[in-house]
Amino acid sequence: MGKSGAGKTSMRSIIFANYMARDTMRLSPTLDVEHTHVRFLGNLVLNLWDCGGQYRFYESYFDSQRDTIFRNVEVLIYVFDIDSGDIENDITYFDGILDAMEQSSPDASIFVLIHKMDLYHEEDRERAFNERAALIQSRSQQFKMKCFATSIWDETLYRAWSAIVYSLIPNVTILENQLNDFCNICGADEIVLFEKATFLVISHISKLESTRYDSHRFERISNIIKQFKLSCSKSMAQFQGMEVRNSQYSAFIDAFTGNTYIMVIMTGDGAQVPTTLTQLNIAAARKHFERFIPST
Ligand code: GTP
Ligand code: MG
Repeated sequence: MGKSGAGKTSMRSIIFANYMARDTMRLSPTLDVEHTHVRFLGNLVLNLWDCGGQYRFYESYFDSQRDTIFRNVEVLIYVFDIDSGDIENDITYFDGILDAMEQSSPDASIFVLIHKMDLYHEEDRERAFNERAALIQSRSQQFKMKCFATSIWDETLYRAWSAIVYSLIPNVTILENQLNDFCNICGADEIVLFEKATFLVISHISKLESTRYDSHRFERISNIIKQFKLSCSKSMAQFQGMEVRNSQYSAFIDAFTGNTYIMVIMTGDGAQVPTTLTQLNIAAARKHFERFIPST
């Protein structure tokens, strides 16, 4: 949910329907509620309700459609346009949504995306985001809302959506333990698991000192590889994998289970490990991981 023009349909189309960011400029406003069923990791079906944000629709969400909209919500994703000239009105509607959620789905998780951050100068973004996030969080005692700064023009969108989807994956800790073992067994420094269709990061293991590296690196890779994958399919080629190697590290991305891609990073001596060995390790682990990540 969120005001008309905030960017809800744009983000949904980029993450789940293979739109490039520039394709969203031709989207028209969503009328009432658009329901989609998104398959994620094969057998996880997300029922995504994209609620048109024009005020006339809000009136019916609060009134005649109240029960339909707000009952049995597992996750509410609320999108604010950081550049909206009418914060007061935005917050009034948001308060109304929070009231309805407190009544009808008090156990839901709420993610708030403070969106179109690209419209701010880079040096002003953090301050603008912090101010807005503080205002938003002050609106509810009951919900602990997680706020993200996002834009369709960079990887921040992938970061927010990875976190949202991660919160919905059942038994994710079992998967992470298995991934950690695999990381140790093949002597890797990092392993990242991406969902195949969306290229969202589902899980990552890192043995590297976190402060030395860009904390957005995995989402940057999601963004880059997804765009590359789409370019491949436009020229009738299929993306299978990719290898980047220099004297300090090697990074290997390969199709993994039916619904995932895996990235294996090796540094130091590990960077000299031949590609075929890494491929062999991935092939050996594939069957095992199919048990944790069903591929129906
Ligand atoms: P309703 O369906 O009316 O509720 O609007 P919506 O929230 O679905 O908005 P929509 O996704 O249709 O986007 C409106 C416009 O915002 C489009 O022209 C998008 O290209 C633009 N837009 C979306 N995200 C961003 C962003 O991160 N930055 C900028 N600058 N523009 C964006
Ligand atoms: Mg829309």
